[in-house]
Amino acid sequence: MNSYYNPVHTFQGPGSLAQLPELLQSLPKDQRRVLILAWSEGALRQPVFAGLLAENSEFEVRSLVFTASNPTVDQLFDAWKDTCEFCPHVVIGVGGGTILDVAKSLCCLYGCELNSADDLRRRIVAGDLKPAARWIGVPTTAGTGSEVTCWATIWDPERDAKRSLESKENYAWAAFVDPELAQGMPIKLAISSALDAVAHAVESYWARRTNAVSRALALEAIRTIMGQIDNLFSDQIEAHDAMARGSMLAGLAFSNTKTTACHSISYPLTMHYGIPHGAAVAMLLAPVLEMNVPVTSGMDRLLEALGAENAAGLKKRVSDLLERSGQPSTLKGWGVRRGDLTRLAALGITKGRADNNPAELKSEKIERMLNSIYE
Ligand SMILES: [Fe+2]
Repeated sequence: MNSYYNPVHTFQGPGSLAQLPELLQSLPKDQRRVLILAWSEGALRQPVFAGLLAENSEFEVRSLVFTASNPTVDQLFDAWKDTCEFCPHVVIGVGGGTILDVAKSLCCLYGCELNSADDLRRRIVAGDLKPAARWIGVPTTAGTGSEVTCWATIWDPERDAKRSLESKENYAWAAFVDPELAQGMPIKLAISSALDAVAHAVESYWARRTNAVSRALALEAIRTIMGQIDNLFSDQIEAHDAMARGSMLAGLAFSNTKTTACHSISYPLTMHYGIPHGAAVAMLLAPVLEMNVPVTSGMDRLLEALGAENAAGLKKRVSDLLERSGQPSTLKGWGVRRGDLTRLAALGITKGRADNNPAELKSEKIERMLNSIYE
């Protein structure tokens, strides 16, 4: 029987970020070194962070701006080098999935002796890293759910690999899911991030590791997001609130089940063609759903939550959302060469994701799916 566990203290809703300093007050007086890892200088000007960084702050606070997306082993090593002497007790990640993944990874690196990015690569592959600091997630793009999961994705383009840094002891101390931080986000990013969250929930629902709690969370996440996603086009706060809430619920759902075929197949599309993660998994939702229908119990409830009658209806809905937000809904549109599909299909079987899909995943099946979304 699959079980469920998630210890993250969650704060959710417009204005919830204001409670962060109060949480930090509970830190012992001799453990108040705080690193704020942010995606931009602008994020640091938020009143809460400006207050922490002020000279009279009762905390010893440093900041680091990390601008890359899809963080690599080399970039993580550089961020560690920049902050290892400061050796924070708490790392606050403010940004999208990249920032949160780097924040939680850094917590596992303080106190380690690392002389090079190669040293770091070896430790990640060995899988024996444990947290020496606590982290707080402040997502600014609803979608990744990274604030409530205990793993981080680190890319390793030199070795053509996607690595995962994971420890059950490295769940966040707290997550502040405040939709006010997402307002004004570019519509392409808002839509692809929301669809990424939908994929987390859908995949959690049918995953081999699914459980009753994850399934309930997943259905609620999908209803919450799909019911409001069209209102993102007019940048309504209600829509951002729904995306933030739905994305967190999806994160809680898949924190215990992980993802399946959509994510597995999407990774080489992102690594080799730069297709944004959310758009890549969104295009794969319908073909993977079609494959999983015969082996998923409760598919009627899943389709009802998605607001689609079948895989074809879902494909149309997702394609419309991508196109309306100004991004292609086919592989051809993203510049993928048809002659590359066989290779991409073979690379699409990633351990821990492909074998978590309810229907068996083979490269021939993947190639057929990639062909079905080619043009
Ligand atoms: Fe994802």
